[in-house]
Amino acid sequence: MKRISDQMEEMLNKQMTREAYQAQVYLSYGAWAESHSFQGIATFLYGHMQEEREHMFKILKYILDRGGEVKVEAIKAAPVHPKDIGECLNNILDHEIQNSKEIDKIVKLAHEESDWATFNFGQWFVKEQIEEETLINGVIDKYNLASNQIKDNHNLYDLDKDLATAPQEATTPREETI
Ligand SMILES: [Fe+2]
Ligand SMILES: [Fe+2]
Repeated sequence: MKRISDQMEEMLNKQMTREAYQAQVYLSYGAWAESHSFQGIATFLYGHMQEEREHMFKILKYILDRGGEVKVEAIKAAPVHPKDIGECLNNILDHEIQNSKEIDKIVKLAHEESDWATFNFGQWFVKEQIEEETLINGVIDKYNLASNQIKDNHNLYDLDKDLATAPQEATTPREETI
């Protein structure tokens, strides 16, 4: 028996496709970074592509768990290549912020419908989006620091090396142990 509303089922399916799109954005930007010899940044972006695919799959599982129907739909094309690393990172942050707003809509609908199961499920994504925005913001800060003093690309080179081993998760303040 289906235990989510038709509207919720549709929203979750749309979100599933959106997460797949997010993965395509990271994949495309990763390939772009690699083609410009920013191997560390590429590794970071590919790693994140994997995260987005997991999000997509998590939603798929949830729809099925609630007796809903999964609809795998077309994924729109990834955006055109950025002009530089700064634009690449800023675009990614924009995409994440946009995605957070879509997650908020799901949580809002769940609240309106008193669908506490989906409300609870949505909380995981709310937290995930806080982490991702924090993570990308941090990388942008590092990039700004590095590019302020660009003379011989040395700082950018260091940033690239740094990102190769950067975690895919940011620690949010409430998780930090005192
Ligand atoms: Fe995601
Ligand atoms: Fe994301």
